[in-house]
Amino acid sequence: MCGIFGCIMKKGNAAPVIHASLKRLEYRGYDSVGIATLTNGEITIKKDQGKIDDVHKLVNLDDMAGNIGIGHTRWATHGAPLKVNAHPHVDCTGKIAVVHNGIIENYNELRNELENAGHQFVSKTDTEVVPHLIEEAFKKNPAWTLTEAVIDTIKKLCGSYALAVISTKEPEKILCARNESPLILGIGKDASYCASDLTAFLPMTNKAVLINDGELVTLTPGKYEIKRIQDGSKVVREPKVIDWSPEMAVKTGYPHFMIKEIHEQPATLRNTLRAQEHYLDLISTFLDRATEVYLVACGTSYHACLAASYMFSKLAFLPTYPVYASEFVEQHGKSVNIDSTILAVSQSGETADTLGAVTCSQQRAATILGLTNTVGSTLTRVSRVYIGQQSGPEIGVAATKTFTSQLSVLAQLALRLSTKRGKVSQDEMDYLAEKLETIPQVVETIILTQEEKVKALAKKYKDAKIFFFLGRGINTATAFEGRLKLMEIAYMPAIAFPAGESKHGPISLIEPGFPVVFICPKDGVTHKTLIGNIQEMKARGASIISIIEEDDEEVKAMSDDYIEIPKGIPEVISPIPFIIPLQLLAYYMAIERGINPDMPRNLAKSVTVK
Ligand code: AGP
Repeated sequence: MCGIFGCIMKKGNAAPVIHASLKRLEYRGYDSVGIATLTNGEITIKKDQGKIDDVHKLVNLDDMAGNIGIGHTRWATHGAPLKVNAHPHVDCTGKIAVVHNGIIENYNELRNELENAGHQFVSKTDTEVVPHLIEEAFKKNPAWTLTEAVIDTIKKLCGSYALAVISTKEPEKILCARNESPLILGIGKDASYCASDLTAFLPMTNKAVLINDGELVTLTPGKYEIKRIQDGSKVVREPKVIDWSPEMAVKTGYPHFMIKEIHEQPATLRNTLRAQEHYLDLISTFLDRATEVYLVACGTSYHACLAASYMFSKLAFLPTYPVYASEFVEQHGKSVNIDSTILAVSQSGETADTLGAVTCSQQRAATILGLTNTVGSTLTRVSRVYIGQQSGPEIGVAATKTFTSQLSVLAQLALRLSTKRGKVSQDEMDYLAEKLETIPQVVETIILTQEEKVKALAKKYKDAKIFFFLGRGINTATAFEGRLKLMEIAYMPAIAFPAGESKHGPISLIEPGFPVVFICPKDGVTHKTLIGNIQEMKARGASIISIIEEDDEEVKAMSDDYIEIPKGIPEVISPIPFIIPLQLLAYYMAIERGINPDMPRNLAKSVTVK
């Protein structure tokens, strides 16, 4: 997730406006920043890796002439956070500049075609194909307008994008377009703006125009024109007046980052399913050759590893060992060796315990692989190969969207391994791959249809003494994650264990009215045994809260409360949708208990100390 911004003014310099607006978009990405302005037939660009304030100190982002410009604050997905990969990107002539938020899935083949046509590329980004495609369109059709060249380009792109384009050929306009990545216009009296969200331009104007997928906008000072890319037809859409406070705006209308990021998961899961072929193949090749694999992480990332160990075993018959990073050195420090492979999972890529386990393994010649959300982090530098979660910056202390993105990448790795190892039939692999593609929509449906029910659950149980979370099989990991969320965000005492463990001790804790959450997908063999566990708990007076598939009448009948998940979810990927109600439960429980979910006491977003 990155932040894009463009502005065109009747008079005055665009650069300081762009700089200040990018600062308001910084939560969308902050590993590099850049601005391009246009004046007297020349495009000037200032960009570098680093946070906006640091880059500004270096290059003075305000000191650029021109009443028109575009800017970008980056969260790297393709290409490390280096100056050469920072946006804006230009064509061979430097007369076309582009900023982009999203993922262009077919950038490799487009780049090959353009290089074969003589175009010179300088970056490792997917974005750089866009200005070169526009340049190529003009080469083949010199009489074309910028609009025609941009439409021709966009029709060649697959994937998600919010683009803003300036060109010396038509210096009095900005073109912008979107597909899946957010884009919104701000219309002032003598200036027009385009941005990834209205936070960027709210101090200048509260008149906003939402842009839909497949629309192209031409911006001139104080004016805008919308067209459908498909057929060039005009779209008439009046501005809306926004009455948000700046505080609300930075969370695009949500009261907290945590709920905003829970709601972002359909979009981030779509992004996580995009264009990582090369890295998925590379990592799955290393895993396929491995003799022993440790999955090493902390907290929520550890729970993703726990779920992954079931995925790798069930789909690829690959034994993997999830290990708490903080325990790794004590537990395996002497046995890890040159034949060991470590897959370290860390959203921040900076967690001290995880890096400690990696360092120990490296010293014993083990192979290090990484899964992280933060390209350019320490983990990406020490890994032989790493893969990105592509879930964008997560501001809330609670890991929510990064957890489901980690699970999605790990499921994709397990599917590729399964293909390499031929342990599962082609039909079953195709079926699972198709089901994984539907998960973003499934998550969207859960949020839309169940959020109010979860809110009511939080109200009903806000004074509970303790919460139990029980699951079987892969959803033991879901139970552990639901417990962690409730503890860390709502300060609610909670315990979680494999449901089969109940009778080996924990069940003695149960008292009448104790809420027990069962994660109970229908697929797989755990459903039947879980019913037995539910009856055990019910017999002792527990309040049964079931996370079930929507037509599971049997479990519904024995539950005091239930939350419904769309049916037909294969058990091996069920933690992704089944965790959503538990994320929402933690959030709304915190609200009920008067706690700020974004700033839980004693916690930091990234634990960089041991
Ligand atoms: C999750 O809600 C917590 N904030 C915490 O457990 C976190 O998952 C853990 O510290 C690991 O962080 P990492 O993924 O950045 O390594």
